[in-house]
Amino acid sequence: MSNAAHARDVIVVPDAAALAASAAQRLVDRIADSGARPAICLTGGSTPKRMYELLATPLWRDRIPWLQVHWFIGDDRFVPPDDPLNNMGMARRAFLDVCAPAGNIHAISPAATPDAAAQLYESELREFHTAHRAGKPLFDLVLLGVGPDGHTASLFPNAPALTEQSHWVVGVAHANVAPFVPRVSLTLPCLAQTREMLFLAAGNDKQDILRRVFAGEDLPAGHAQAAGGKTLWMLDQAAAPSPAP
Ligand code: 6PG
Repeated sequence: MSNAAHARDVIVVPDAAALAASAAQRLVDRIADSGARPAICLTGGSTPKRMYELLATPLWRDRIPWLQVHWFIGDDRFVPPDDPLNNMGMARRAFLDVCAPAGNIHAISPAATPDAAAQLYESELREFHTAHRAGKPLFDLVLLGVGPDGHTASLFPNAPALTEQSHWVVGVAHANVAPFVPRVSLTLPCLAQTREMLFLAAGNDKQDILRRVFAGEDLPAGHAQAAGGKTLWMLDQAAAPSPAP
């Protein structure tokens, strides 16, 4: 199935520094126009790290109502919280542990198996939605990246998780790309429950996969979109695919 039907906005900024600042500004704006309990779903990987570190600097830190905002993760590696591969651990080190109350940080908890961890996280998401987001999308902003194979979160090409329509979180036994560890991932229907979905991509090694996604190839990143909100791709110039000849 192609993904050409999904309308998507693409913003190209000059470089990685501009990408971090522009993404931070969109996060601040979504928090500002949210309701009583802003909810942000972070992504892992390397691209967002610079943006996360920016949020901890005085200029940005002072613009976020930390006591109100709740932070989630779109996927994580099935490793201990203090493992360098842990996505929420990266976000904690970059800004959350310095800025956010511990009770507002919702990491995927360790469990016996990825499926068990997924069940626990799904319960936590559903409880949060019922208690604090009734009548509106689960998230105000979902951040996502795109991997070299077109995966997003930990939804890999041709994976059974891609067609999951009822569960919000699934265990992923095998990762297509490094790190080759099991994962836990939000599903497309869960990621779609957001006022804004913001993909971030930087560097010329993203050009090819972005060209394939934007051409409508059947890839997970091309199928992710905000159900009722805005789906936006923010790229630095190096990542922007040059027009096909
Ligand atoms: C993960 C991420 C993953 C990431 C992409 C892009 O657990 O690895 O959630 O989906 O966003 O692989 O990663 P980079 O930002 O490092 O290119």
